[in-house]
Amino acid sequence: MNAIRLADNIFWVGKVDDRKVPFHRLILERGTTYNSYLLMTEKPTVIDTVDIEFGKEYVDNLSKIIDPENIEYIVINHVEPDHAGALPALAAKAKNAKIVTTKLASELLKDMFKLHNREFAIIKDGDTLDIGGKTLSFFETPYLHTEETMITYVNENKILFPCDIFSTHIANYELFNDLEKGEYIEDFKVYYRLIMAPHRPYVRDMLEKIKKLNIEVIAPSHGYILRENTAKFIQMYDEMSSLAALKQPKKVTIVYSTMTGNTAKIAQKLVQGLESAGVETSVFNLKNSDLAEVRKKITESDGILVGSSTRYADMVGNVEELLKLLEGEEVKNKFAAAFGSYGWSGEAIMHIENYLDKIGFNVINQKYLIGSAGIDIPLFPLRIKFARQEGLELAEEAGRVFGEQVLTH
Ligand code: FEO
Repeated sequence: MNAIRLADNIFWVGKVDDRKVPFHRLILERGTTYNSYLLMTEKPTVIDTVDIEFGKEYVDNLSKIIDPENIEYIVINHVEPDHAGALPALAAKAKNAKIVTTKLASELLKDMFKLHNREFAIIKDGDTLDIGGKTLSFFETPYLHTEETMITYVNENKILFPCDIFSTHIANYELFNDLEKGEYIEDFKVYYRLIMAPHRPYVRDMLEKIKKLNIEVIAPSHGYILRENTAKFIQMYDEMSSLAALKQPKKVTIVYSTMTGNTAKIAQKLVQGLESAGVETSVFNLKNSDLAEVRKKITESDGILVGSSTRYADMVGNVEELLKLLEGEEVKNKFAAAFGSYGWSGEAIMHIENYLDKIGFNVINQKYLIGSAGIDIPLFPLRIKFARQEGLELAEEAGRVFGEQVLTH
């Protein structure tokens, strides 16, 4: 496709992929687009590239518009191969271009594409870049949907380039939403639920950041460029990510046995994290609790967290008794995870997780977090050495993430 004009000296130079595209364990039946943009200013700038499969075609097409050696900046908002995939092909021709991206993204790109000898301009939240006739402002948007992500705003044209955010997977040859001939709002919402909803608090942070911008056009990385009813799409993200939009109230029960009080401290941090996510909590130290009452509370909850310290490679107190009581309950729609303090091995935590899995809970562990939410941090099973400060901070984050999973399902 030729370059398509968005505004003065700003062009779409991407690729429409109308195949059925494999994506995040799904098949995109309606295809997608990889939206790359060229800003023909005094310092010509490319914002994002296209999927790795189309690298050569992309660079050949771009070379018909501009000599790649004249490109001064390549902005990479996100490193996934549907955005940065054509970077090696482009960088090989655009020999003079600096790669503009976040610190973490620069490290990833160097390793992914062997770009250790390229010049990078490292962006921090709120930085600006004069590209000769236009000014780019950058905002870090971590976890939308991966940690290194940022977004770009062109001050003079009031255009936001938000990367995956506000995207839609649809192979739309008409490109602009005011030219669309069919339904796409549902696709826009499905995309949000699939890619953005697991990172809901970060969506709220992003919305706060862009509030101060005057946005006339949203030019995302996939699907329609939103130049009609632009505010409506921001409003939709606001509504979909608000706590009010989630099924309320959600309840999580935390139960534990502790030898020296360390597992109790972890439980309190989990509670703080859960409550910061907007989840109601009930906490039971099993030493002083009636197990029948605890069991009843668990059956009324949307999730449970079960903790124990380890003694002689086993659970302590009556944790196992409680878990046996839960055998036979209908729990497949309830989230569960194990936690505990330990000194050297922490077997109790693994025994609890095995029980939760055997009973039939939807167990949140590292396998779940990577596979369902793309969270590559070992939060669960939550094993904290003694009650060290860094461990307690991790526990609070783990509680928040557990709460988000409960809230958004
Ligand atoms: Fe469009 Fe995160 O890839």
